[in-house]
Amino acid sequence: MCGIVGYLGSQPAHPILIGGLKRLEYRGYDSAGIAVLEDGQLCIEKKKGKVADLEALIGDNQYSSTIGIGHTRWATHGEPNDLNAHPHLSNNGSLAIIHNGIIENYGALKEDLNQKGYAFKSDTDTEVFISFIEYIKESEGLSLEDAVRIALTKVVGAYAIAILSSDEPDKLIVARKGSPLVIGLGKDEFFVASDASPIIEYTNEVIYLEDEEIAIMQNGEYRVINTSDDSQNPQIQTIDIELEAIEKGGYEHFMLKEIFEQPKSIADCMRGRLKASTGQLVLGGIREYKQALINAEKITFVACGTSWHAGLVAEYIFEDLCRIPVEVEYASEFRYRNPIIKEGDIIVAISQSGETADTLAAIELAKDRGAIVFGIVNTVGSSISRVTHEGAYLHAGPEIGVASTKAFTAQITVLTMIALRIAHLKGTITERRYNELLVELEGVPDKVQQALDFNDKVETIADLFQDAKNFLYLGRGYNFPVALEGALKLKEISYIHAEGYPAAEMKHGPIALIDENMPVVVIATRDSSYDKVVSNIQEVKARKGVVIAIVTEGDVLIPKMADFTIEVPSTHEALMPLISVIPLQLLSYHIAVMRGANVDQPRNLAKSVTVE
Ligand code: F6R
Repeated sequence: MCGIVGYLGSQPAHPILIGGLKRLEYRGYDSAGIAVLEDGQLCIEKKKGKVADLEALIGDNQYSSTIGIGHTRWATHGEPNDLNAHPHLSNNGSLAIIHNGIIENYGALKEDLNQKGYAFKSDTDTEVFISFIEYIKESEGLSLEDAVRIALTKVVGAYAIAILSSDEPDKLIVARKGSPLVIGLGKDEFFVASDASPIIEYTNEVIYLEDEEIAIMQNGEYRVINTSDDSQNPQIQTIDIELEAIEKGGYEHFMLKEIFEQPKSIADCMRGRLKASTGQLVLGGIREYKQALINAEKITFVACGTSWHAGLVAEYIFEDLCRIPVEVEYASEFRYRNPIIKEGDIIVAISQSGETADTLAAIELAKDRGAIVFGIVNTVGSSISRVTHEGAYLHAGPEIGVASTKAFTAQITVLTMIALRIAHLKGTITERRYNELLVELEGVPDKVQQALDFNDKVETIADLFQDAKNFLYLGRGYNFPVALEGALKLKEISYIHAEGYPAAEMKHGPIALIDENMPVVVIATRDSSYDKVVSNIQEVKARKGVVIAIVTEGDVLIPKMADFTIEVPSTHEALMPLISVIPLQLLSYHIAVMRGANVDQPRNLAKSVTVE
């Protein structure tokens, strides 16, 4: 949450900062701002709203400064307004900061600084943070670098920061703890960002700063130290993200692009890992701790949101194929309730961004208690990928739309491959079923494409329901998590209230909601609970509910009962979530567009939830 960018080099910083903020806008879009050092003076431009509003504010005011910092905000402390927008200046105006994270002890620091005569213009923890640095610098007569370092040992919380000083106008200082920060290394120039997306058009050589590390950049050179002032030797990594992967490529929205990318992203996820013709399933990321997975008495998945739904699908798959009991935990609950974790227990953290604060905290807790932690992560180099013992990347490419789509299907694909591999090694699956599932999984990208081919029909149905006030989503077995995911997709981007339920649970309460105004989306593909779901549809129809059914192609029974049907190709029921979710993603997308909502940047949300 919040995106930060910085530049130091010989090019004008202003356009680089604005370009970078546009790439990072998915991380927060309550306000945006930049600070540059123009003729040694700190100049700040900041505005409530989107980066486009900031651009309008700056207008023709083209700064020539070659050093600057920029921020796009997801508000934590203080409402989204111009004053609370970053960058913030220190009390005497000599320092400017941008910050992603939360300073938890800012209240005590603020009180202390107030008593010393400091005044604050905003409600933010960040303004307190930079004035605290100024106070240490001035009162102890320290260099900026030392003042930053000492301040960082006294603040509690999470931060990725970038700081400019009018006293040292050729220096850019950045630091991180708990919030991501990448430094791109150009020729005598440096690019700083919350993730690599603003950097890749300039350089593919990057350093991922570690927690409690500080980088000081000046005169084409950089040094990294830690908060104890020990020199660090960061690893320079080469990243291989293509520019087109982070652009819309002709689609109206990133979300639509990402929905339509799924045949490719699922295939990419399997590439080099699965080859059904030879029975090959290679997963380098579970090599070292493979035996621990085979012997596991229990597996606990921890995740949030859509990734948690992928974990629920994995629960069905692992229990079915591997015969290992599975628990799926909200990371935010798991970490606060003294969970029972024994030495050697298996925890699998699932995360698109690899930066979700609650998931990271759950991992730390599990590691402290001796668990073996696997990460199922999309973003290469992200915090979760670095703190877990082993794991597998999704290889789905950058996901920029705030509503997760292709990451969900890639997570299920990776988890299915792991389950198949473990089941095969354990002998809990017959050779025949193993081979059948490999063939079926390899065929999923084509079937996802067939499901996407029904886009026009989904759009027509969306048109009829765009004004609905509520939606109910029902599914059973493997399709129950899909119902949850369909409801989440709708509510987060269209702001229509929606609930997902196991179809059979409906009669224990939600059935009371059903009348002729209640659209009920039923995922009713042909599987072991098909007959039961058919009964559930009849129960809805008997109460005049309007049924939109997702059915297997060729189904002749449900189209006679449901008001609308959308077909998807048939597959093994364990793999159906990968296909049955497609029309639900499209339905939510079209409804949101028709309601005029900002699909890629829904209100109050941000892509990477780095606060707890
Ligand atoms: C929903 C969505 C969120 C994320 C959740 C976890 O569309 O995107 O619910 O799934 O914030 O994020 P990651 O997967 O990055 O840990």
